[in-house]
Amino acid sequence: MLQKDIEEVLISEEQLQEKIKGLGEQISADYQDKFPLLVGVLKGAMPFMADLMKRIDAYLEIDFMDVTSYGNATVSSGEVKIVKDLNTSVEGRDIIIVEDIIDSGLTLSYLVDLFKYRKAKSIKIITLLDKPSGRKVELNADYVGFDVPDAFVVGYGLDYAERYRNLPYIGVLKKSVYSF
Ligand code: PRP
Ligand code: MN
Ligand code: MG
Repeated sequence: MLQKDIEEVLISEEQLQEKIKGLGEQISADYQDKFPLLVGVLKGAMPFMADLMKRIDAYLEIDFMDVTSYGNATVSSGEVKIVKDLNTSVEGRDIIIVEDIIDSGLTLSYLVDLFKYRKAKSIKIITLLDKPSGRKVELNADYVGFDVPDAFVVGYGLDYAERYRNLPYIGVLKKSVYSF
């Protein structure tokens, strides 16, 4: 049913799982003697977070944050509002922020500044997808799954008007769905 709205499958379910396995192995090695706090950014990061954490063989804690950018995406004011904050203190902790996609970079630059202010010991970013062409602020992830082109990608957590998050793969949305 959902597939009728998809132009092409960009990253298949198998490719996603294969990549996530590799990312999990990297993080396992890098955090072997630590106790990182994985911070999933709702809602998009939810499936990635769930699959990634199962591939990390190290002690870890998870928590979630929900933030929203104010209005107009063309204004790079970077104003972000916290909808749901962490339940956990980040002071002195090794933080790994888990994102589904970096586009403008505004969401993550806000979170990095916030966790610095809250005295995190270290802050790293893992993103499943990176859209470098969308950047409005300089921001790089420490672990990246896939670079994606400047297309409307949905699925595996990524939405268009709250739909398609439940697709098991990353696809490009048909133009007819969002332009009429
Ligand atoms: C999307 C995405 C990232 C953010 C990336 O979330 O999941 O969190 O935007 O964009 P940026 O780099 O330009 O800040 P969104 O705010 O749409 O919320 P959602 O995860 O609930 O869909
Ligand atoms: Mn998001
Ligand atoms: Mg969204």
